[in-house]
Amino acid sequence: MRRSRRRGGCGPLCGVPARRALLPALPGLLAAAVLCACGGDGAETVVLDEDGCALASPASVPGTQPLPLASHQVGAFCRGKARFHDRQLQGLGGNGRACADCHSPADHFQLSPAQAQARLAAMAATGIDDPLFRAIDADDFRSRGALARDFSNLTLNGLVRVSLPLPPNVKLLDCGATVPCPATAQATTETHADIWRAVPSILDSRITGPDGQAPAWPRGPNASGGYQLDGRIDTLQNQALSALRSHAGISTDPPQQWLDDLAAFQQARFSSPAVQRLADAMGAGTSPLPDLDPVLDTLESAGKRVFERACGQCHGNGGAHPSGSAPIRQGQAGTPTALVRYHDILTACPRPVDTASPPRFAFAPCSAAQMRNVRSYEITNSGVAPSGTPCGGAAPQLACVTRITTSDPGRLLLTGYPAAGGPGDIQKMDIPSLRGVSRSAPYFSNNTAATLEEMLEHYQQFFKRVQAQNPAAPLLTTQPGVTPPVIDRPFTEAEAGALLAYLRRL
Ligand code: HEC
Ligand code: HEC
Repeated sequence: MRRSRRRGGCGPLCGVPARRALLPALPGLLAAAVLCACGGDGAETVVLDEDGCALASPASVPGTQPLPLASHQVGAFCRGKARFHDRQLQGLGGNGRACADCHSPADHFQLSPAQAQARLAAMAATGIDDPLFRAIDADDFRSRGALARDFSNLTLNGLVRVSLPLPPNVKLLDCGATVPCPATAQATTETHADIWRAVPSILDSRITGPDGQAPAWPRGPNASGGYQLDGRIDTLQNQALSALRSHAGISTDPPQQWLDDLAAFQQARFSSPAVQRLADAMGAGTSPLPDLDPVLDTLESAGKRVFERACGQCHGNGGAHPSGSAPIRQGQAGTPTALVRYHDILTACPRPVDTASPPRFAFAPCSAAQMRNVRSYEITNSGVAPSGTPCGGAAPQLACVTRITTSDPGRLLLTGYPAAGGPGDIQKMDIPSLRGVSRSAPYFSNNTAATLEEMLEHYQQFFKRVQAQNPAAPLLTTQPGVTPPVIDRPFTEAEAGALLAYLRRL
């Protein structure tokens, strides 16, 4: 941030009414306008950033008069922007971290392992503290507390610790990251699971929270979508509060206005002007909603058709609620072909390995650094919804005790609802928006795909596995055993190029 204050002598823009001296509030415009107000004894100069926000508040400098700034320059958006970048969090008692330390504006408002590596190296070279590196996000925090210094998950995987309370019927087992977990392993007394997650972008968050659209998931929280990779939070205000408490270590909660300001800032940040137009149209209740896509060439248009066939049933974008994160409804609401809201696309580690020879699918195995995040869980079916399903009876009833080994149990940690596959919550995650996806590598909730090509390779294997599991009716997105089934529509090797070309235009 730049700030300049000058005394004595008016700058060239003095006397120009504030509104005319401003550049329009264009996100991404790297320009600053200089605005000053002439006082009796000279001038105060304020630098406005690319959004037209005053970078310094003259009122906060003793002995100066408030400048006649336009209301939007000091309004909720600008206050929120300042708070988003604020490492001091005065009066709240934080740990030196700003939202922007993880949701990095230079990195599409997310965090890549490459950036974490560069920052750790810079901190070592200069000795200047970087608050990204706090003991709570060190791998060895549970054993070494404040002395923890192993930042491998941040630098190798770009992942941050998310500590989630275990539902009463879910226990961690004492086998650590051992795969397979020995049958003799016992439940531990741990009350929380440490899940390592990627930092998602905050761009487009005005339209990626709960949408009230069908299809709804049978269990909350947030049956119609939410914030966080598992959709567990309902509003940007509650999300910010949770981030301030868990990532920034505050000891005093901020006032509501503070959280509203942060939300106002995030709600005005978009991956492209097209998404902003869509959000405005949605806000105005316009129908039909505009098509976001730019003019596409032949290859990209072909890719769009592949996308709508193979990806759109989950990622939206061409019907229903086109935020790119609400699945498209298939068939009629309430019929078995309506797609479901949350999915397991097998990004967690370890990945399934086919026992057939030759293997019918072969996922890229997780790296050693990712496998360190695996834990085993024991889930006791209570037999009573919502925390369990009837168990112990004849098939298809499940055993009353289920064990799973995974780096991320997904929504299971919110509900304790165990049934594997279609109806349960194991490894179920929210569907992210793909707008601006070419600028937000790496991909998936654990950053396991470094490029769009690797991401597509994962889906190739995912579709193959779906078909291998159920050759008659590949059930990708619906409950097992329903008629008629949703037939999965994988993309072919030959279509991958077109699909990639389209994804790069999103
Ligand atoms: C230490 C790094 C870190 C800091 C600091 C941080 N976040 Fe996050 N943020 C994350 C991670 C990791 C997730 C995903 C967590 C999950 O899904 O469980 C996330 C998720 C989010 C999301 C949800 C996005 C979506 O698409 O669902 C929003 C919004 C967000 N953060 C805003 C903020 C705000 C506002 C602040 C500052 C008050 C903040 N974050 C501070 C790491 C961070
Ligand atoms: C069965 C539903 C489903 C289908 C079909 C599907 N996705 Fe996804 N996708 C998801 C879910 C759920 C996630 C979040 C899981 C995660 O990140 O671990 C996701 C994540 C992604 C991500 C990561 C986004 C990020 O910011 O990290 C990309 C990219 C993606 N999908 C692209 C595609 C493409 C391309 C297709 C079509 C070939 C496709 N998806 C088909 C459900 C689906």
